[in-house]
Amino acid sequence: MPGETAPTLLIVGLGMIGGSLAAALKAAGYRGTLLGCDRNDDEIATGLAMGVIDDGGSALAPLVVRADIVVLAVPVLAMPAVFEALAPALGSRIVTDVGSTKRAVCDAARQVFGTLPSRFVPGHPIAGSEKSGVAAANPMLYRHHKVILTPEAETDPAAVQAVRGLWELCGAQVLEMPVARHDQVLARTSHLPHLLAFSLVDTLARQDERLEIFRYAAGGFRDFTRIAGSDPVMWRDIFTANRDALLGALDDFEVGLARLRRAVEQGDSDAMLGTFDRASHARHYFETLLNQTSYQAMESRQVQYRVSPGGSVSGRIRVPGDKSISHRSIMLGALADGVTEVKGFLEGEDSLATLQAFRDMGVAIEGPHQGRVTIHGVGLHGLKPPAGPLYVGNSGTAMRLFAGLLAGQAFDTELTGDASLTKRPMARVADPLRLMGARIDTAEGGRPPLRIHGGQPLKGIDYDMPMASAQVKSCLLLAGLYAEGETRVREPAPTRDHTERMLNGFGYAVAREGDVARLSGGGKLTSAPIDVPSDISSATFFLVAAAITPGADLVLEHVGVNPTRIGVINILKLMGADLRLENPREVGGEPVADLHIRYAPLKGIDIPVDQVPLAIDEFPALFVAAANAEGTTRLRGAEELRVKESDRIQAMADGLAILDVEATVFDDGIDIVGKGGESANYGGGRVDSLGDHRIAMAFTVAALRASAPIEIDDCANVATSFPGFVALAERVGLTLEEVEA
Ligand code: S3P
Repeated sequence: MPGETAPTLLIVGLGMIGGSLAAALKAAGYRGTLLGCDRNDDEIATGLAMGVIDDGGSALAPLVVRADIVVLAVPVLAMPAVFEALAPALGSRIVTDVGSTKRAVCDAARQVFGTLPSRFVPGHPIAGSEKSGVAAANPMLYRHHKVILTPEAETDPAAVQAVRGLWELCGAQVLEMPVARHDQVLARTSHLPHLLAFSLVDTLARQDERLEIFRYAAGGFRDFTRIAGSDPVMWRDIFTANRDALLGALDDFEVGLARLRRAVEQGDSDAMLGTFDRASHARHYFETLLNQTSYQAMESRQVQYRVSPGGSVSGRIRVPGDKSISHRSIMLGALADGVTEVKGFLEGEDSLATLQAFRDMGVAIEGPHQGRVTIHGVGLHGLKPPAGPLYVGNSGTAMRLFAGLLAGQAFDTELTGDASLTKRPMARVADPLRLMGARIDTAEGGRPPLRIHGGQPLKGIDYDMPMASAQVKSCLLLAGLYAEGETRVREPAPTRDHTERMLNGFGYAVAREGDVARLSGGGKLTSAPIDVPSDISSATFFLVAAAITPGADLVLEHVGVNPTRIGVINILKLMGADLRLENPREVGGEPVADLHIRYAPLKGIDIPVDQVPLAIDEFPALFVAAANAEGTTRLRGAEELRVKESDRIQAMADGLAILDVEATVFDDGIDIVGKGGESANYGGGRVDSLGDHRIAMAFTVAALRASAPIEIDDCANVATSFPGFVALAERVGLTLEEVEA
C-alpha cells in the first residue's frame, strides 16, 4: 500500500481505458493525487464528478509539471503530438502508455526525443471494452488481466518497477516481452479478430441498407461481432500503426479461409470436421486456460487433498476407462482405414494429450462426449506434419508409443512433456528404434524432448528387452508396422498385451510364441469398434480401500481383467482379501468382470516376483494394504518403480514414515512392517505426492485407517488418470476436501 508520499499521476486521455486506470487506483486506495488531461472538457468534468480524478483540465503543460508519473492513454496515432507537447517539461518524469501497438509508439518517442527516453516504459493492458469515454470507466477492468510491458535496452529498471507497481495495484498480472513479439502476438489475437468483426458487420450492413437482417441475428452473431462496436478512430490508428504485423496475420488467415472454402465447395467432410474439431478443441483449451484448469496450466496449479481419518467403504461404482487402452484406441483408430467408434474412453489429461497430438497431425476426431470418441482414420501413411512440437504432458505411455509410430513417418517431429516426463528415461525406446534405422535425438541422458527425423527407412529387428516394459514392446511393434520384414520383441516377463490384442482386432496379425511378440511391416489396419473397460489401476485404490476398512462391501463394475493386468487381484488374495470376480465376460477382445470385495484381515506376504510386472502401477496402493496387514510384506524385483511418474519406492517410503509406518527401502523394492489390527493403525500428517497421481491417491486411501487427518500436496495430476476421483471417494464413504493453494 503506498504511503502518504505516493507519486502524483497524470493520465493523459481520460477515456474508458485511462478512466478505468484512475478508477481502479482510487478503488485500491491509491494515496497520490490523480490528475486527468483531456482535450474534451466534458470528460474531465465527468471524471471529477465520478470522483476518479482529483483535478484536471484540457491544457497539458500546467498539469505535467505537477506530475511524477505520466500515463498516455490517447489513441496510438495521437502519440507523436502528445510526445511533442510533453517534451519541454518531461525532465526525469516517468512516462508510460497503454497503446495497443508498441513499435509505432516507441518510434514516435525516438522521433521526438532523438533517443528513447530512459524513463519511458512502453506498456499495454490486455483488457478493454467496446464502450468509450470516462463514463464507462470500470475499476475492475484490469483485475486478473495481463498488462504487457515492453522495456527496451535503454529503459531504466526503476521506472519499469514503478509502472509495474501501479498496474499490480489495480489487480493486474504484469509481464514483459520484446516490442516485436508484442506486436505480432497482438496482431493475431486482437487486431485480426477486430478487423474480421468490422468487416463482417459492414459487409452485411451494406447488403441490407435498412439493417433488417440484424433483426434475425441471434447469439452467434452477437458473440462474433461484439467488438465491431469498438471505437473506430482507435482501431483505425491501431491498424495503421501495426500495419505489417496485421497484414502478416491476415495472410495466414486468408490461407486458412481458402482451405475451408475449398472443403465446403467440395463437400470434403473430413477436412471440415478436422478444422472444426481442432478449432473447437483449441477454443475449449483457451477457456480452460482462462479458468486455469488446463493441462499446461496445471503444471503450475497447486492442489492439496485434506483427508479426514476413518470412514467407510461401500456401494457399487464404476471407475473411468482404462488409460492404456484409451491411448491405444486413439493411436490405432487414427492409423486405421475407416471410422473407429470408441466408448468408455478415459477423459483424463494423459489420453486427451494423445488425442490432441493426432488432431495436430490432421486427424479428424469427434468428442470425447461422455466417453464416446469417433476417429476418422487416415491410414498408416495419412498423418500430416504437425505445426509444432507434440506436447504429451505427463504421459510416458504417449511419449514412448509415439516414438515408435513417428519413427515411421515421412516428416520430422518433436515430442515434449511436462517437468516430470522430462526426467524420465527414453533411451529404452530410442536405442532399439535406432537399431531399426530410426534417427532420434534426445536431450542429455536420453531424456525428452525427442526429436524424430522422418523419412528414414526402417527394418525389422529381433530385440531382447532388458526390462519388462509394455511401453517399449508397444513402441517397437508400432515402428514395426512401418518396417521392412519382421519385428520380434522378447520380454523377460509378461507385460500388458493391449497393443497386440487391439492390432489383431484391427485385422493386423501379431503372433505370439512364448515370450516373443512379432509382426511384419507393410500391412494395414481396418477400423473396429472399441469398448474400453474400467481401468483396473484406478479400481485398485478402491480395492485397497475396501480391503483395509472393517465392514467394507464394495462392487467395482466392468473392470478390465486382462491376465497381464491382474497382479493386484492375485496379490490381494494372497494377503487374505475377500475378493471375487463376478459376471466375467469378454468385451471387444478384452476380458471384463465386476469386482466384489469385502473387508477381511490382511497378512503380510513375500510378493511373488512373477506378479511384479502384472501389478506394476498398483504398488503405491498395495503398499498401503501392506501397512495395514499383520506382519511384514516384502517386494523385490521392482526397480522399474523408480522411473515412473516419481521414484515410487522412495516417495511411498517417505510418506509412510510420516504416518509412522516402518519401511526399509532396497534398490529394487521395499519391506513394510504392517500394523494389523482393527482400530486406527497409524498417524496422520502432511505427505508430498511429488506430483505423482498414484502416490496422491494411495495416501488418500491410507487415511481410512489413520488416527489423524492426512494432507497430501501436489495432487493436480490425479486428473491425468482419474478425473472425478475425489467425488467417487466421497461417494463410497471417505471424507476429503480438495483445496487449491
Ligand atoms: C503402460 C505400461 C507400463 C505402465 C504404464 C502404462 C502401457 O509402463 O506402468 O502406466 O500402457 O503400456 P512400462 O512399460 O514402463 O512398464
